[in-house]
Amino acid sequence: MDVTASSFISACYGRNEGRLPIWIMRQAGRYLPEYRAVRERATFQELCRSPQLIAEVVRQPVERFGFDAAILFSDILTVLEPMGADVSFPSGGPQIKNPIKSPDDVNRLKDVDVEETLPFVLEGIRRIKQVMPQVPLIGFAGSPFTLACYLIEGKGSKNFDAPKRFLHEHPRAAEQLLELLADVIGRYLQAQVAAGAEAVQIFESWGGILSRDDFTDWSARLVNRIFTRLKSARVPRLFFVNNVSPYLDALKDIDCEVIGVDYRVDMNQVARALSGKSVQGNLDPAVLFGTPEHVVERATRILDSMDNLDSVIFNLGHGIQPKTPLESVQALVETVHNYRRQSCRTT
Ligand code: CP3
Repeated sequence: MDVTASSFISACYGRNEGRLPIWIMRQAGRYLPEYRAVRERATFQELCRSPQLIAEVVRQPVERFGFDAAILFSDILTVLEPMGADVSFPSGGPQIKNPIKSPDDVNRLKDVDVEETLPFVLEGIRRIKQVMPQVPLIGFAGSPFTLACYLIEGKGSKNFDAPKRFLHEHPRAAEQLLELLADVIGRYLQAQVAAGAEAVQIFESWGGILSRDDFTDWSARLVNRIFTRLKSARVPRLFFVNNVSPYLDALKDIDCEVIGVDYRVDMNQVARALSGKSVQGNLDPAVLFGTPEHVVERATRILDSMDNLDSVIFNLGHGIQPKTPLESVQALVETVHNYRRQSCRTT
């Protein structure tokens, strides 16, 4: 089948008249026994560097559940390693042992040739397309702001106070950092498309800590630069914003096809505010710890609320949790796939 005719790609462009597409963030992850089995043989970073293992784990959830899109297996922090960040993934979240503390540290970051320094990612994409040519593959990267948060804080954080302070204290160095990241990420996503990715998603996981003005300057502006560069790649561009609601006006102007919506908001209201863009989301991952009946009820409620299903891609409102029951995921996929569109058109 031609991937561009798939329900996922059609929905990205707002013209899906067929079955509703679903994939879920972190779909290749620790809730899957077959993923955990691979992780017994390899550390997370070994896995991210092995094209063969990348292709294996990307295929696992698509085969088990029949998801309508696959996502590259990697991490948003992977691109920072060749730039000079000492990244590791001890249990409890990622760590950077040499965080940026001063403008001088920004000068030390390297501009990288992605083909040369991240060949295993691109080879992973080629292998995925060999084994699953018919399933649309999403390439991805973190946003410049989210990556800057990790580079400066050196680890996860609730409020990322140090990065926010750095950006206001050293605006010139901050601009240099964000521009370098935008440039590298733009080339990285172009390389992913050239290797075979049929859509790209940027994760703005930490945009939600910003004031509205800072979001415009430090998130939206740079993301737009990346997406504009990708326009000629002719693939759908998706932007996931964790905590989307304060920024809806700014998002309207982003040059992309799809906005990924977190679980805190009413997805139909977001769709209305962004008229013209498709939406992706937004079931709370915690719902999956309920009974299958509960999952069906909550997913149906979201679908019933939507005015226009032609531009909906069903997903969770954030990544799936490690101990999520498999029956819940199965129930979710069946609910979305069997959803009768007429039931909401007539109301
Ligand atoms: O969605 C997918 O299936 C694709 C793979 C993917 C991973 N991370 C694999 C992963 C993607 C798209 C990401 C993105 C990512 N990574 C984000 C953005 C999305 C979000 O959550 O907002 C962020 C912030 C990161 C940084 C990161 N990497 C964190 C916070 C963690 C720790 C998570 C944890 O619970 O331990 C990681 C590690 C990571 N990335 C895992 C996976 C499957 C777990 C590693 C393991 O197998 O032990």
